[in-house]
Amino acid sequence: MIKIWKECPLRDLNSFHVEEHADCIIEFDQKEDLDTIFAEANEPSKWFVLGGGNNILFTQRFDGTLIKPVGKAITIKAQIDDSVIVEAEAGVEWDDLVEWSVSNNLWGMENLSLIPGSVGAAPVQNIGAYGAEAKDVIERVHCFNVSERRHRTLGNAECHFAYRDSIFKQALKGKVIITSVEFRLSKSPQPNLTYGDLSKEVEARGGTSLRNIRDAVCAIRRSKLPDTAVLGNAGSFFKNPIVNKSIGEELKAQYDNMPIYPLSESKCKLAAGWLIDKAGLKGFRKGRVGVHDKQALVLVNLGGATGGEVIDLAHEVQLVVKEKFGIEIEPEVNIL
Ligand code: EPU
Repeated sequence: MIKIWKECPLRDLNSFHVEEHADCIIEFDQKEDLDTIFAEANEPSKWFVLGGGNNILFTQRFDGTLIKPVGKAITIKAQIDDSVIVEAEAGVEWDDLVEWSVSNNLWGMENLSLIPGSVGAAPVQNIGAYGAEAKDVIERVHCFNVSERRHRTLGNAECHFAYRDSIFKQALKGKVIITSVEFRLSKSPQPNLTYGDLSKEVEARGGTSLRNIRDAVCAIRRSKLPDTAVLGNAGSFFKNPIVNKSIGEELKAQYDNMPIYPLSESKCKLAAGWLIDKAGLKGFRKGRVGVHDKQALVLVNLGGATGGEVIDLAHEVQLVVKEKFGIEIEPEVNIL
């Protein structure tokens, strides 16, 4: 079913809770609806897919159509040996799917508990946390190609997944609408407890079970990340920078306790949160916006801020980090 709204306030549709408007919002729950929405006669000239609005910053009025998938079906498609293929529609809340997988004793998503957002957004930026990424469990992605007006399916390899990146942010950016995602989950235990304090938190809950891992991840996230209902934010505002190994090693020689994650022979990843924190900006406030006091990677709306105020703060943070460490950090959030 298609629903259309005109002149829409966006405050409750973006987790930063900035006050902007969109010309139009169209909700759909069947992939075939997209054939109608994008039929030649009524095709919106400017459009953008709005999932849960958790990774987006509106800095001005959106003078186009926001397309919002709201289908919420979760279906078991196949069982192959130890694996179960599960298809979830784009409008399913990501964490509802994780809870469903844990309740059904299926392994693979538990480390991704409590990541805000919808299933349709998960492949776009290859969401990740606690040593796991969506790409580890995505089997294929179903989408609608707007200019070709046809439905397509991309296998995992075709999605070109990388750290917070995929073909949906590159070659297919602005071209497709994800309608559902298929995941491969495991019936037998596959715990992944290598990240930080996760194994300690799981032990404290009585040992390695799916439920304990989910509970531990939720507890860690709740202790560090602000609740968007209380303090508008979009999770990590910046990506962790990937730099040449020599640059990482030079900094490590200067700052003994700096986290550094090897990626390949020549590249390593640094923790943007640590760089911002060490630059003295954790808890920094500027008018109605600020750097979260428990996790410096998160920028927060302290109440009533505009997208422009958040951008100004982001620029300031980028500048200070660049001056102190010579490292450029880039936003992870979509800026519209
Ligand atoms: N750190 C600080 N100060 C801070 C924040 C972090 O010193 O204010 C240090 C930590 O002590 C740790 C390192 O930096 O040594 C990394 O911090 P953390 O484990 O909290 O993870 P992160 O790199 O800041 C990433 C993801 C998060 C995800 C966590 C856990 C990105 C951009 N962010 O953050 O994802 O939850 O790892 O796996 O990769 C999100 O994308 O919205 C998000 C929250």
